[in-house]
Amino acid sequence: MVNIVLFGAPGCGKGTQAQRLKEHYGIDHVSTGEVIRDEIRRGTELGQSMEAYIKAGQLAPDEIVIGMIDHYVTGHMNAAGCIFDGFPRTTVQAEEFDKILAGHGLKVDVMIDIHVPEEELVRRILLRGKDSGRADDASEEVIRGRLDVYREQTAVVADYYAAQGKYASVNGTGTMEEVFSRIAAVIEGLK
Ligand code: AP5
Repeated sequence: MVNIVLFGAPGCGKGTQAQRLKEHYGIDHVSTGEVIRDEIRRGTELGQSMEAYIKAGQLAPDEIVIGMIDHYVTGHMNAAGCIFDGFPRTTVQAEEFDKILAGHGLKVDVMIDIHVPEEELVRRILLRGKDSGRADDASEEVIRGRLDVYREQTAVVADYYAAQGKYASVNGTGTMEEVFSRIAAVIEGLK
């Protein structure tokens, strides 16, 4: 079993690479962003409580997102492991995540941090924004705001895993295949 935190700024390729890793290694993939968007689409109470945060490009409250992950880990973990995409995004989330996993005899094996220069991130999201229908892709202002949130609140989570010796950084530029090979090399190195 391997549990991977796939990390990096908006647009770095977390979702793209998680899908490929899932197919290649047969491990699960959970994206907190996707779970939140699904709640919003279905108009649930949880979705309604988070819609304004997402539209504004702000983080949803820790307690709600931690509750979602707790529910996932308790009910859905596959024996091969899981890719956590977009979680944890604050130090509080990282600390609570360790406790949730430990309660099930599990742990994070590695955080893989995908690095892409900021202008390339903006270019990718603007390009995708035309088709994604995502409220937080709609304007450059909101996209740049998401990058600010990442720098100010999320980037520090890398230090949390580095302090545990579980941090790996990969270059997220080049083709999707090239990025996949770099990530796969990190995972192979865990064996
Ligand atoms: P989330 O859904 O996690 O979005 P994000 O982090 O902003 O990331 P994106 O989905 O925009 O990008 P990505 O890194 O997955 O890249 P992708 O593969 O799509 O979160 C959305 C929101 O939900 C947050 O802002 C927050 O409000 C809330 N939320 C989520 N988790 C939370 C948490 N834990 N706590 C609190 N709030 C939370 O790729 C981007 C584009 O680039 C695609 O078009 C892709 O085709 C393209 N691309 C990918 N790789 C390459 C490549 N190598 N070369 C060229 N193009 C590429």
